[in-house]
Amino acid sequence: MTPVSDIIRRRFSCRSYENKPLDDDLLRTFRQAVEAPEPGLFGNAPRFVLLEMNELPREAWKKLGTYGVIKNARLYLAGMIRPAPMATCDYGYCKEKLILEATRLGLNTCWLGGTFAISAFGRAAGMRRDELLPTVSPVGYTAGHPRLAERILRGFAGSDHRLPWPELFFRGNASTPLAPEEAGPYAEALENVRLAPSASNKQPWRIIYDPNQKNFLFYLSRAIGYKHLRDVSLQEIDMGIALCHYDLTVKALGIAGSWHQDDAAPKIKSWEYTATWQAI
Ligand SMILES: Cc1cc2nc3c(=O)[nH]c(=O)nc-3n(C[C@H](O)[C@H](O)[C@H](O)COP(=O)(O)O)c2cc1C
Repeated sequence: MTPVSDIIRRRFSCRSYENKPLDDDLLRTFRQAVEAPEPGLFGNAPRFVLLEMNELPREAWKKLGTYGVIKNARLYLAGMIRPAPMATCDYGYCKEKLILEATRLGLNTCWLGGTFAISAFGRAAGMRRDELLPTVSPVGYTAGHPRLAERILRGFAGSDHRLPWPELFFRGNASTPLAPEEAGPYAEALENVRLAPSASNKQPWRIIYDPNQKNFLFYLSRAIGYKHLRDVSLQEIDMGIALCHYDLTVKALGIAGSWHQDDAAPKIKSWEYTATWQAI
């Protein structure tokens, strides 16, 4: 089994795909994961559908709105959710799990929150009246430059385009930076949050570690005036993705803990509290 940290390092936003169908076995394995409904950390279960290009008339695919952004994708993962408390966060969590499963299988993906036409995808995915379709993702083999692909496999992807630790992770309060050495066994999970994808690469996650309480408080530093697309905040999806990377990593390391929301979490100016992970 590939370690989750390797999978996280291998993932990158792929916008150009090889024009060939997926291997049947791979598609079957991925479809099983997509069609097994699983709730997120706060009990909301998004609905996922795989859309194959050839199921739609040619003209319809031209209207997908991904033209110029995504090249040659034959398969799309669409995810729908009913509005509810923490539903957007659970959406990010559950969909990122599928993105990482695709990555584990050697496939490439890209989160798309802006550059797709809701009407065409909604129709193809059988979107219901009470559902939202916040993002879709192409899934396929990268047509990227072999050297780039190799760079990615070696684990350099992303990290050179990410905020450094002192801007993301803190100890005890919102102004004392947390050094990786001080994070002990949790350093890997935090580094994996740092490598997470986020809309426009804004990296809105801020985390405060309390070594005495052995907990991590996750906050959202919302970009002012940032798009609230299709009734959904893309940055709340980003938070769900961050929780996913943290959660999968601590689980893989065998560190026990649980998630909850704490009404008494410290209020921090310009940050919004999302959730707490508490070691057991
Ligand atoms: C919620 C969300 C929405 C996104 N929407 C788009 C999009 O509409 N178009 C696009 O080209 N990339 C989109 N991205 C990809 C980000 O730009 C990308 O994750 C970020 O720049 C980091 O690069 P990386 O994924 O290669 O590590 C989105 C990512 C997320 C998490």
